[in-house]
Amino acid sequence: MVVSDDNSGDWRVGVLFSQTGVTSAIERTQLNATLLAIEEINANGGVLGRRIEPVMYDPASDHKKFRAFAERLLQVDRVRLLFGCYMSSTRKAVLPVVEAHRGLLFYPTLYEGFEYSRQCIYTGAAPNQNSLQLAKFLLSACGNRFLFVGSNYIYPYESNRLMADFVSQDKGKVLDEIYVPLYPDEKDFDKVINRIKKTSPDVIFSTVVGSGTAALYKAYRAAGFDPTRMPIASLTTSEAEVAEMGAEAAEGHITAAPFFETLSSVAARRFVGSFKNKYGADAPVTAAAEAAYFQVHLAMRAVAKCGSDDPDLVLVNVRDSEFDAPQGRVRIDSENNHTYLWPRIARVDRAGRFQIVWNPGVRVKPDPYCVVQSLDDWSVDELPLLRS
Ligand code: ACM
Repeated sequence: MVVSDDNSGDWRVGVLFSQTGVTSAIERTQLNATLLAIEEINANGGVLGRRIEPVMYDPASDHKKFRAFAERLLQVDRVRLLFGCYMSSTRKAVLPVVEAHRGLLFYPTLYEGFEYSRQCIYTGAAPNQNSLQLAKFLLSACGNRFLFVGSNYIYPYESNRLMADFVSQDKGKVLDEIYVPLYPDEKDFDKVINRIKKTSPDVIFSTVVGSGTAALYKAYRAAGFDPTRMPIASLTTSEAEVAEMGAEAAEGHITAAPFFETLSSVAARRFVGSFKNKYGADAPVTAAAEAAYFQVHLAMRAVAKCGSDDPDLVLVNVRDSEFDAPQGRVRIDSENNHTYLWPRIARVDRAGRFQIVWNPGVRVKPDPYCVVQSLDDWSVDELPLLRS
């Protein structure tokens, strides 16, 4: 349904991040970052003199609730722009609703790729912006015998499929692939630990998400494994999961992401400072939060340009737009609605902080369908690049 432009009152936008449930720790960082960006814009006079008003629900890490609240936001609350979703299962539940109502979803989470919706702007990493670089790093630093462990849903299955492709390019081998429930219990990880002992891989690639992550890393630590010889590497173990498991369980493990709380650039320090000022010194700042933050700025700049939150007009204005995000200058790719991002890899130190171990200093064009799948041939931005 098309809602006519009301030029008075606030810009009402939908916000769907879980405050409860298995992925609430990471989604709360996305919610916090979304509200921080809205607060900043409102403090600067809003958009064309009108404030942004978030309309929020707690979908509790449940794809059915995500879908129901998306319906409600678009049909009852009559918002046209939505910011939200972490798990791919929730994005896939929400998108048909957004498409049916011709809304526009801004999705700030790394995912498995192989998707395009005209009604979605993807601001997290596609596999050619994190998995490819992580595979290359692990194959040179750790070895080529991998064990995969993941949560039982679409992102881990698809992410593992791609990682297996990358590993095989270097004549590597996937020794085992194990899935645990989204809400795992201790005995699920006993099984994982036994399989690690049996196969003795060079590296464990984890696509476990949410609160099960802490259980995996703690079980690994309790088993007495050595992360300097056999690290767990992941795209979904962020500052939020490290805060849940503690520094002792996290030390030595590896994550690839475009943003880490420890980045030293002026833009990163400013963002982290504002975030902690608002939410407390211990509030984790994650790559998923950084994407949630910059996508609000990008979206509302597009609204300012066209004077409307009509999704068709916002889409035209957001495509090819750039923003000086905390990770570096990002850009929305008009070919595929994904975002040019800055890949990085970090290892957790003794204090539980991510320290960068690999930073190529290049912005990478999104290639969500992995047309370029070679470990040595990235889709690098063609523009002159600055290190951040
Ligand atoms: C994810 O499910 N995209 C982490």
